[in-house]
Amino acid sequence: MTFSALILAAGKGTRMKSNLPKVIHPIGGKPMLQHVVDAARAAGAAEIVVVIGHGGETVKSSVKSVDHWVEQAEQLGTGHAVKLGLRGVSKPQTIVLYGDVPMIQSETITDLVNRKSAVLCAELDDPTGYGRVVIDLDGYAQRIIEHKDANDSELKINKINTGILTASTEHLIQWCEALNCNNAQGEYYLTDVVEMANDNGQSMQAVTLADIHEGEGVNNRVQQARLERVFQQRMAEKLMIEGVTLQDPSRLDVQGSVTVGSDCHIGANVQLYGDVSLGDGVVIEANCVIKDAVIGSNTRIRAFSHLEGASVGQFAEIGPYARLRPGTQLADQTKIGNFVETKNVHMGQGSKANHLTYLGDSLIGENTNIGAGTITCNYDGANKHQTVMGNNVFIGSNAALVAPVKIGDGATVAAGSVITTDAEPNALVVARAKQRVISGWKRPVKSSK
Ligand code: UD1
Ligand code: MG
Repeated sequence: MTFSALILAAGKGTRMKSNLPKVIHPIGGKPMLQHVVDAARAAGAAEIVVVIGHGGETVKSSVKSVDHWVEQAEQLGTGHAVKLGLRGVSKPQTIVLYGDVPMIQSETITDLVNRKSAVLCAELDDPTGYGRVVIDLDGYAQRIIEHKDANDSELKINKINTGILTASTEHLIQWCEALNCNNAQGEYYLTDVVEMANDNGQSMQAVTLADIHEGEGVNNRVQQARLERVFQQRMAEKLMIEGVTLQDPSRLDVQGSVTVGSDCHIGANVQLYGDVSLGDGVVIEANCVIKDAVIGSNTRIRAFSHLEGASVGQFAEIGPYARLRPGTQLADQTKIGNFVETKNVHMGQGSKANHLTYLGDSLIGENTNIGAGTITCNYDGANKHQTVMGNNVFIGSNAALVAPVKIGDGATVAAGSVITTDAEPNALVVARAKQRVISGWKRPVKSSK
């Protein structure tokens, strides 16, 4: 049956102590609400409706793939939120999810929806604060009592309500209309629909979570950090299952999406952001930070390198301590060594810049060697200019290439040169003061007091 996901996200999240609405605080670099939306989509939700309140506009602009947004101006309880949200729902079955319960998995959503009428529970050692679920011998939920409304024996129940439930949309509408707020909190409790379902012959199966993290909500930054660890552990396990060796699964951070080939190796304390793609046999050594990058097969990124908006070909070697900035495109078998910074650079196959160099706004051909300390002077204080180096160029150490400038194929630039005009192919260009030799030079000596 086609179903809609109705996600509650109107709460303020006071305990986050933040200007940002709670549901857009991230887990794994992605807003919590987006995790829930994506899980619902992956489970096949035909429609996604989100109830927003506090910071609604910010939430809307931060989360994708939502069909309808419903405003709840005043937060009068979960039952009130669902009642309003159902106005945006058009499919015959609805599952209620929460923007601050981000670890819910698509398989769990699918399982619940297939049961038609069900409520998701969890068994906790310490159920304090949660609604308690009274379950009959056949495994159906009889009713849910909120902590604040529970008596001593009810408080001993350790099956808690995650809040997630599913039923036919038509019935949910009917039941939510009938809710009242005669309870300890003076709120419209969604949980009261469980008893109404029983009265209507629509009893809800009580489904217990195998992994309680899926039902865990985030109210403060401590809980957020705890779920972040759970998320990172899952990401690490996923990568290992896909054939990646992790030096230490607890010391990898993925804040985005990673695609990998076979036999990759990722060192300790590596951080991956945005969209990162690794070919086969890629090695990323310890302490690298990599954002939005494509790395070709059999390339090694040595320790402490920083890559952003870069693509690197196959059999390349980068770092240690290299910095590739946006617009860097390195072909196969290139080498970028320690303390080399590149920005908006295209470098052809087999070219190298091994030490202490800045390459900005440059087009570099194949098999070109750039000596230690070379700088492209790409900025004149107002505008950026391009440096072009052909194939088989040799740039001596500590050259300054003042852009715009072109170094022809096969040209050699002498060490220490400041190049301001184009060099013709196969020429040697020397642009430095001539060496003087003063024989028998006496060094200054310290004057006596
Ligand atoms: C609710 C459940 C409780 C369950 C617990 C799980 C009810 C009455 N109680 O309690 O049984 O154990 O969740 O965490 O449902 N929200 C709105 N609009 C509102 C009220 C809430 O969007 O008017 C959203 C909140 O932003 C939050 C979620 O619904 O994401 C749950 O609301 P909250 O007030 O935290 O519910 P609890 O009292 O914790
Ligand atoms: Mg509450």
